[in-house]
Amino acid sequence: MSAPTSSLLIEVVNGALVIRHWGAPILGQNHDIALASRVSIANSSWDEPQLPGLMRESARGFLGRPSLSGHRNGKAWSTKFEVTDFHHQGNHCAVTLRDFHAELEVIVTFDLDAFGVLIQKATVKNIGNSDYVLNEFIHWLPLPREATQNLDFAGRWSNERQPQCRDIQIGTWVRESREGRSGHNFSIADIALTAQTSFQSGSAWATSIAWSGNSHYLVERGFDGQQSIGAGELLLAGEVILKGNESYEAPALFAVYSSQGLDGVSAAFHSHLRAREIHPKRPRPLTLNMWEALYFDHNESKIRELVDVAAEVGVERVVLDDGWFHSRRNDRSGLGDWVVDPAVWPNGLTPVVEYINSKGIEFGLWFEGEMVNPDSDLYRAHPEWILHEGDRTPPLWRHQLVLDLGHEEAYKHVLEQTSSLLAAHNIVYIKWDHNRVLVDAGHLGVAGVRRQTQAIYRLFAELKKRHPGLEIESCASGGARIDLGVIDYVDRFWTSDNNDALERQTIQRWTSQVIPPEMLGTHIGPTHGHQTGRTLELSMRAITALFGHAGIEWNITQATAEERANLATWAKYYKDNRALLHSGKSVRIDYPDEHGYLYGVISADTKKSIFAYVQLTPTVTIHPASLKFAGLDAAANYLVKAVYPAGKPRFMLITPPQWMDGITMSGSALATIGVSAPILAPANAVLIEITKL
Ligand code: DGJ
Repeated sequence: MSAPTSSLLIEVVNGALVIRHWGAPILGQNHDIALASRVSIANSSWDEPQLPGLMRESARGFLGRPSLSGHRNGKAWSTKFEVTDFHHQGNHCAVTLRDFHAELEVIVTFDLDAFGVLIQKATVKNIGNSDYVLNEFIHWLPLPREATQNLDFAGRWSNERQPQCRDIQIGTWVRESREGRSGHNFSIADIALTAQTSFQSGSAWATSIAWSGNSHYLVERGFDGQQSIGAGELLLAGEVILKGNESYEAPALFAVYSSQGLDGVSAAFHSHLRAREIHPKRPRPLTLNMWEALYFDHNESKIRELVDVAAEVGVERVVLDDGWFHSRRNDRSGLGDWVVDPAVWPNGLTPVVEYINSKGIEFGLWFEGEMVNPDSDLYRAHPEWILHEGDRTPPLWRHQLVLDLGHEEAYKHVLEQTSSLLAAHNIVYIKWDHNRVLVDAGHLGVAGVRRQTQAIYRLFAELKKRHPGLEIESCASGGARIDLGVIDYVDRFWTSDNNDALERQTIQRWTSQVIPPEMLGTHIGPTHGHQTGRTLELSMRAITALFGHAGIEWNITQATAEERANLATWAKYYKDNRALLHSGKSVRIDYPDEHGYLYGVISADTKKSIFAYVQLTPTVTIHPASLKFAGLDAAANYLVKAVYPAGKPRFMLITPPQWMDGITMSGSALATIGVSAPILAPANAVLIEITKL
């Protein structure tokens, strides 16, 4: 199977399904690849070379971690699958493997799309009569030995998706996610690299698991010299027990090979995601989220004042966050009771929604339907509806417990209360939060994370079905549920609770490794950041928020007249340029100066691009490294100039470089010579437009 950027070569040998190659495109006649790949008979080794294939079984001489593990009350513990069916058409391939002794069937499918995204799916079926306990199924792909580095992502609340890289050595590197949501520490991708791979060049082999529950990523190099990258759902003990004829559908693995560095990987993921029928197509509305403006202090007249300023600035959607529902005056009570609180909203939400709509602005509302406070009517009525084990109650986290959505009555409660609110008001958007981890998460005596994950997918799908046009934002204490599983049910992710633009630079840089910017909520926070206390220029906050689904999260009734005017010009700039920002190719330049970032978006026809140069920390040299722009049309001439949609940055110079007022250069000169970088104060940014003449 071949795409312009990659090939996948699969072979059946002695009944085993062998992935011979996943990487650069293979052209021509290649009948002898199997022969070319045969290894020596080594000393102290097998008498015949063994080919364990995709199932990685000990019965086929494999000594690493198998793809499938499980048993039937101690039996059927070791498998030897044989390919019994193989369908290959174009870039789709479906393979059936059976082990009649273990009484199991595995169907694996591979789909390689035009952008080079390989989607690997698998179903494990019990074709026997006794119960089969499935411990795990992991998708694996081979890595060549030039992949010597492994990049993944770690993080915590307010600092998600921080890259970490290491040498691949003999052994297994495992990244587990056991939070019951993908998590702040979830690796949005696991990527193998050569020692030279950068943003713009070199090989990268990337995987991303499409699952929002527990998961694991693995990179394994065996002492035989083979190495692989894998991922799958992390099943809790006894979570999947297949009765006769029952099947387990493993979460899909999305994989990309790129010969054009990490940006090649993100280009493939972005193109794939954008090509989905369900990808949000409407221009992404400029959003005002009221959380950092109001917190729990919901007050209709304050909201009207805020909305007046929002309308003046050009906001298109306003979101009422946490605090509107029954007894929710702080984070200690109310979760579970999804009814408007008359104590704060004596006339209900309708008048405020109508007021917002009268300004031409859409209305959105916050929910956290998977959660319950012990201090709630729901919990008082149904304490048994929480995820728990035995007679234990899991430890509280933000004063809340997790509702067992695998419990049909609990599921209906959340669905019906949410749905009634949506039916009764003009709510086009919901922000759906998930503020705690799942621990000891039992459903009626058995592990309940998988069931819970499936339930939330079902709930989102049902809400969208009942309320056509409804958009959903996936939020989880910021960016703790951003993954390729939930992406098919939502339209936006809340990237991080950290609205500090300096810190957001890195969080957004790496979240967009997989997720296209139009799905990442990026807000202008208050002048003094609420998370870090840092004071940042409006221009820095505005430029940072521009590279995503832009919004504002700040009490702008307190903004000065000058700030409001700047917000209005920035809002117009966002609207004028969002078609480019949300469809173009994201480019991260391999900028040689570690004190700065240079990145941008280039339109598909290379006619227009917008770049940001960000001075993160002070440089050691007087002049930072020149700004060189990759990805433009080398032969074309471009107008290059700095633009200031939200006011000027803080410079640390007497006169800025002359090119900033506008000069003409060819794409090749911009890539090789570039323009000199202005000297900015730390934590400042400048926007650069490059337009074909
Ligand atoms: C965490 C979210 O990430 C915030 O944006 C906000 O919605 C709060 N929860 C509300 O409790």
